[in-house]
Amino acid sequence: MYRFGDEELQAVKRVFDSKEFYRVGSRYQEVDNFEKELADKMGVDYALFLGGGTIALIAGLIGLGVGPGDEVIVPGYTFMASALAVTAVGAIPVIAEIDETLAISPDDIEKKISPNTKAIMPVHMIGFPCDMDRIMEIAEKHNILVIEDACQAVGGSYKSKRLGSIGHVGALSFNYFKIISCGEGGAVLTNSKDAFERAVYLHDGGSVFRQDYIGLAKAQNEEFSYTDINPIYSEFRNPVFAGIQSRQSEINGAIMRVQLKRLDGILADLRRAKKVIMDAVADSGIQFLKTNDEGDCATHLGFIFDDEKTARRFAESQGVGGSLPIDSGRHVYTNWEPIMNKRGSAHDRTNPFKLEANQGLNFNYSEDMCPDTLDILSRVVCVAMNPDWTGEEIQEKISSINTAAKAL
Ligand SMILES: Cc1ncc(COP(=O)(O)O)c(C=O)c1O
Repeated sequence: MYRFGDEELQAVKRVFDSKEFYRVGSRYQEVDNFEKELADKMGVDYALFLGGGTIALIAGLIGLGVGPGDEVIVPGYTFMASALAVTAVGAIPVIAEIDETLAISPDDIEKKISPNTKAIMPVHMIGFPCDMDRIMEIAEKHNILVIEDACQAVGGSYKSKRLGSIGHVGALSFNYFKIISCGEGGAVLTNSKDAFERAVYLHDGGSVFRQDYIGLAKAQNEEFSYTDINPIYSEFRNPVFAGIQSRQSEINGAIMRVQLKRLDGILADLRRAKKVIMDAVADSGIQFLKTNDEGDCATHLGFIFDDEKTARRFAESQGVGGSLPIDSGRHVYTNWEPIMNKRGSAHDRTNPFKLEANQGLNFNYSEDMCPDTLDILSRVVCVAMNPDWTGEEIQEKISSINTAAKAL
C-alpha cells in the first residue's frame, strides 16, 4: 500500500454512519460499485471482490473447472499461494522454469505440457509482465486455459491490456503489501459468465446471491431490490454447488473504491521515477532485467549480473537497497514445503497427491528440478521503488547505483 489518507477515512465513515456493513442490501452498494468500477478499469466484463488473492486464484480455478486429474503449470518463482491454490482445488501444480524476465518461460511451458494439462498460471511477479502473446498462443494450440496471477501487478499492462484481463481468468491481491490495498482483499477478473458464476458460488457458500436470498432480503426491506441494482445475479444459470465464505464487507468496498481512483496516479509516479533512474544509470555498465513489455508496474527496478557474488556485492552496496529474489523465502519453489513434501490438504484422504485421479500426474518434485530458475534468481537484484520519492531521493538512488556499479 503506497498511498492512503482522508478520502479513505471519509469513505469508511460514510459506511460506518450508515451501520450497513453487509454487501447485500446496503445503502451505498460499495462492494457492488467497486466491482463495476474495477471491471471497467481492468477492461473485463466481470470482477468479483473477495477476501484475498489466494481465494481469488482458487475461485478462478474453480471458475474454469480445474480439479482432480488436472495439471496446472506454475512458475518456480512465485509466492507459494499460486501453487497452493492449485492443490486447494484438488489439482497438481507442475513447476516450470522462469527466464531472464523473471516470468514463466514459454519454452519450458511447452516442455511441461502433457495430456493432463488443464491450465497455465503465468504470474506477473513484482509487477513485470509475462510474455502473454506466446502463452495465449501455446494455450490455444493445446486447448488449455490460462489463469493469470496478477496479485503483484495490479494495474500493470501488457501491450496496453491490463494484467489479469488477458487470460481466461485473472486474480488480483489487495493485501497490505500490494499496490492498492484495504489490508486484505482480492479480486477475480474474467470475461466468462460461467467462470464468474462459479467463482461467486465458491466465495459465497453457493447461496447468497441466489433468488431465494434476494427474496428474503426483499421481504425484510420492501424498498430493496437487489436485482435492480445488479441484475446479473438473477441470470445465473450454472447449477449451484457447495462453496465457502469469502465475501467482502462494505467497509473494504468503500476503501477500495478510493484506492482504485489512486491506482493510475501511483503507477504514473512509479514509472516516472523509474525512467529517470534508468536513464541516469544506463551508462554505468550494469544490465537491466529484460522485460516482455514496458507496461510493468515499476514497483521495482531489476538488474541482472553474470554471477551471484557480483549481484550480492551490488545489492549490498551503500544506498542501493537491493535484494536477490533467491532470498525471498516462500517465493522460491524449493521453499514451498507443503508442495515439496506433498502435503496438499489438511486431511490425508483429500490430499491431491494421494487422490486416485491424480496418480501418474507430474509431481516428481526435487530441489534441483528448475536449475535455470535458481540460477537466474541468484543473479538478479531488485530495487524497490516508491512513488512518493522526492527529486532529491531519486538523485540519491541514482548516485548510489552509479557508485556501486563503478566499484564492481
Ligand atoms: C504472486 C502472488 N500470488 C498470490 C498471492 C496471494 O495473495 P493474498 O495474500 O491476498 O492471498 C500473493 C500475495 O502475496 C502473491 O504475491
